[in-house]
Amino acid sequence: MSLSAPTAASLQGASSDLTSNTRPDVRLEVSGGRRLSGELRVSGAKNSALVLMTASLLSRDTLRLRNVPPLTDITAMGEILAALGVRVTRSGETLDLDGETIIQAAPPYELVNTLRASFFCIGPLLARMGTAQVPLPGGCQIGSRPVVEHVKGLKTLGATVTIEHGVVTASLPGGARRLSGGHIHLDCPSVGATETLMMAAVLAEGETVIDNAALEPEVVDLAGLLIAMGARIQGAGTPTITISGVARLHGADYAVIPDRIEAGTLLLAAAITRSTLKVGSIIPEHLGAVLTKLEEAGCTLQPEGDGLLISASSIRALDLRTMPFPGFPTDLQAPFMSLLATADGIGTSLVVETIFENRLQHVAELQRMGASIRLQGNTACIEGVPRLSAAPVRGTDLRASAAMVLAGLAAEGTTTVRGLEFLDRGYAGLEHKLNAVGACIRRISDAA
Ligand code: EPU
Repeated sequence: MSLSAPTAASLQGASSDLTSNTRPDVRLEVSGGRRLSGELRVSGAKNSALVLMTASLLSRDTLRLRNVPPLTDITAMGEILAALGVRVTRSGETLDLDGETIIQAAPPYELVNTLRASFFCIGPLLARMGTAQVPLPGGCQIGSRPVVEHVKGLKTLGATVTIEHGVVTASLPGGARRLSGGHIHLDCPSVGATETLMMAAVLAEGETVIDNAALEPEVVDLAGLLIAMGARIQGAGTPTITISGVARLHGADYAVIPDRIEAGTLLLAAAITRSTLKVGSIIPEHLGAVLTKLEEAGCTLQPEGDGLLISASSIRALDLRTMPFPGFPTDLQAPFMSLLATADGIGTSLVVETIFENRLQHVAELQRMGASIRLQGNTACIEGVPRLSAAPVRGTDLRASAAMVLAGLAAEGTTTVRGLEFLDRGYAGLEHKLNAVGACIRRISDAA
């Protein structure tokens, strides 16, 4: 299917069963207490695919991305790029993005508002068009999500940046045809700022150094794509990234890395149900801190094929603190907390969230399922209970929704999970994958 204008229905593609997920009556019913067994596979990484898609703005040639997961966030990004003039064609998990003609440098607020990551368009738009007007995305359920570092870095590259009426306008100063390289020191290793600034710098005149850059695998994936498009980048995956600007980039054919957060969630599904599962398509180096914690909790992990075999019979309490990569990822804090809520024996787990200021809302939902958790500031103290009990719960953000599904797998009775508009943003057919290995999860809609 092909389009040059944003049509939600046509971009929905493989995720057409997700269209009604914002309706309050749509929910998952998770029958708990079943052991899982068999094999499942991880899809492509949402957070990589989203930013890789925006790189299509950097070249007039077609960018082919493979292993793109069928998610509502991917659909939303496709709509935003289409509104800017990129021709987006999707066939299964392959996306072709033809950026030959960019018709405007101002993505509409109604679209940007649905997808925070779309702010990252500002870097490639500015580099390609010499101007970009992108609405500030604002905060979300998990925190205020500032973009100060993105803006500071663009100014270092020579852009004039103003923020008025909720819109960030960045432009090249009079007469300049390209951004100019510069030395950027990020105050915090922001993933989005590192990605935005890399995309701005690849077409700049001269050399750019980004210090205190984010180390996340998605940053390395973006560098891999940009290099495949002809960019000159060194040091991605280290705190110092050096970019020598080039005059133009060409197309590329590139496969997105597997989703490390989905991988962690599926491993946790095995752990919380005390099962043995093979999870395929995992890059273990992307999950170092998570695998260490799963082993500390008592799981055994063995490499098998392109994935891991996980086995769990009992779970020990442990402490964890979220940190930028290679530390424990904030995106797996909620799912891991569901596991710790079921820890066997005596012992208290301490979970400290250090990245986002409001990312412990799932605690109240887990408490409704009988979890024993005390919250003090950004620290949760968890004592395992012999059995969680099913209850109606709501996922308050994407990862909290996954945490609810995991808790439901372990609970006695049938848990009803609402908030699927979050879940479907980041997990490709989670219920189908889990049902294929023995879970019993039904998507219910009263209207259907
Ligand atoms: N920060 C600042 N100033 C800035 C930018 C960030 O203080 O200018 C702070 C944030 O407030 C936060 C920390 O830096 O405390 C990390 O934010 P970062 O910018 O690294 O996050 P992001 O790029 O907005 C991406 C993922 C998130 C993931 C975080 C951290 C995408 C599209 N999103 O967000 O993914 O939690 O990195 O790893 O890549 C999710 O998938 O559920 C999700 C929220």
